[in-house]
Amino acid sequence: MAGNDAQRAFRDALGTFATGVTIATTIGESGEPVGVTANSFNSVSIDPPLVLWSLAKSSYSRSAFAESGHFAIHVLAATQEGLSNDFARRGGDKFAGVDWRGGALGSPVLGDYAALFECRTRHQYEGGDHVILVGEVIAHDARDVAPLLFHGGRYAERRPRPGASEPSVDIEHGRFTDDFLFYLISRAHFQTSRPTRDKLARFGMDMGQYLTLALLSMDRPLAADAIAARLAHTGHAPDAAALAAMVAKGLLVEGGEGWELTEAGRERLVETLAIGQAFEADLADHFTAAELAETKAVLRRIIELTGADVPIGWRG
Ligand SMILES: Cc1cc2nc3c(=O)[nH]c(=O)nc-3n(C[C@H](O)[C@H](O)[C@H](O)COP(=O)(O)O)c2cc1C
Repeated sequence: MAGNDAQRAFRDALGTFATGVTIATTIGESGEPVGVTANSFNSVSIDPPLVLWSLAKSSYSRSAFAESGHFAIHVLAATQEGLSNDFARRGGDKFAGVDWRGGALGSPVLGDYAALFECRTRHQYEGGDHVILVGEVIAHDARDVAPLLFHGGRYAERRPRPGASEPSVDIEHGRFTDDFLFYLISRAHFQTSRPTRDKLARFGMDMGQYLTLALLSMDRPLAADAIAARLAHTGHAPDAAALAAMVAKGLLVEGGEGWELTEAGRERLVETLAIGQAFEADLADHFTAAELAETKAVLRRIIELTGADVPIGWRG
């Protein structure tokens, strides 16, 4: 193989080793923050706690990492691909617009990461066109967020393999295990809807009244029996008393063709929906985009398979 082809083949072979992605930071001669994207990070020793990574000798940041005596490693979250690209640029002020502070040893510590290792530089080894930096970890932190991965020269996301399955229902002890899909769906439903239900309770509303607002925001006017039919699958179809209570609160009006939302009803719906949306946004940080897309696809399919009367507008 010609030189370039041989190098390409060597890189491709190395690229089969899937890694996380980190940003290593330190300070330069004048105290300026310095940082570089690196996936050569790895663990070395538990006691004493040591980690390593390797830095190209051609890197602009080389002298800063060689001289400072400390560095911080930030294992990146799946949402930080843009930051990874920014720190993979050569030179320039990579910290402009980035949230960071001075760490325990002086290395810049970024505001966001999946894990952080603040290190004192213990050894620097010659490694061909790279220098291998070994650091003693003096502080570390980890957050429960999905990590960014790198494989085959591309960013990737994790996809956990299904674990060994336990029996779903333990009849002897009368309990469900977490391998029972319906148990998981309903438990996830109860837990994720809790902030919304708490909010409704503060408004003095029940789930049927909330679903009525949501239904009428998409399809109106609707007669009372049409509302009951459309919400039958939820087990929360409002009766005449529930609709009358909403009229008394100024949320609904009944016109000639059926029930309509009032402006107050629309505002109440938007305010309640916002609780769920904020909760979902926080929760989404713990998963990769691929995991979320796959989960949505599975749930949509379950909805299709289990109820033909589910309104199309609710499947988004
Ligand atoms: C995913 C990824 C992983 C990288 N890993 C390393 C690495 O381990 N060591 C290294 O020296 N450069 C690595 N780089 C390249 C550097 O980030 C890049 O050369 C950067 O421009 C160096 O910055 P500097 O020249 O300003 O120091 C990586 C780049 C990417 C995108």
